[in-house]
Amino acid sequence: IDKCDKELVKIFERRLNAVLDVLEYKRKHALPIFQGQREKEVFKKVNSYLQNDEFSNELDLLYGQILKISRQVQSKALFPFNIIIIGFMGSGKTSVGMELSKLLEMKYMDTDEIIIKNTNMSINHIFEKFGEGKFRELEANTLEDLQNINNTIISCGGGIILNPKNIKLLKQLGKIIWLKVSPNEAYNRLLGDSSRPLLKDDFSLTNLTNILEKRLTLYENASDIIIETDGKNFGEICDEIIKNLLKCDSKI
Ligand code: S3P
Repeated sequence: IDKCDKELVKIFERRLNAVLDVLEYKRKHALPIFQGQREKEVFKKVNSYLQNDEFSNELDLLYGQILKISRQVQSKALFPFNIIIIGFMGSGKTSVGMELSKLLEMKYMDTDEIIIKNTNMSINHIFEKFGEGKFRELEANTLEDLQNINNTIISCGGGIILNPKNIKLLKQLGKIIWLKVSPNEAYNRLLGDSSRPLLKDDFSLTNLTNILEKRLTLYENASDIIIETDGKNFGEICDEIIKNLLKCDSKI
């Protein structure tokens, strides 16, 4: 077994170095980097190398991990920064952030979720009991606590840009992606959802538009990359984010 492990580690290192070489080649030739189809082919191919089908499930388990690790090594090399997602309520920050974290094998965090976990209260309840001011204080503290994290996708509450100090912290933390959404689309996506305290008492297009318009320049000034989300699905939005990130400077 010791001998096998020694061989395995050697080959594992060789595979990861090959992954990085291929990455360099793809980058140079502007080829797509994260290809789901190629992963499916790898599973098929490695199964055909098995001499005894008895270990087919174990091989799938092993390759599931190997492919995940390969993706992680690639995204670490490509994006040596955190990816921060900002945007209005209903712009898709959570869904896009989670999808992106799967694609890039990066960790995922959500400032609202951290607040909910730390206080053991819903956002609505915090607003009702302590007011918006207290929520903004908790939001700013949450962000301050995140200053030492890396390789993480951070999805932020829609109002995080209201505090200039938060914007400064976000800029130090990583690349900021603004998921832009029109008032109509946000309205349609949020219909029937009562988890947003700012829209709870007056869920109307007028109220939503008023809040959104006041924030437009704040989102714009804070962002490194702007993605229009109207009419696009999460997969398309993630592809666009990756394409844009590949074009930008790796320093923050
Ligand atoms: C808010 C957006 C919410 C949440 C809170 C306030 C805002 O987050 O932080 O309700 O001011 O826009 P989502 O954008 O994730 O809904």
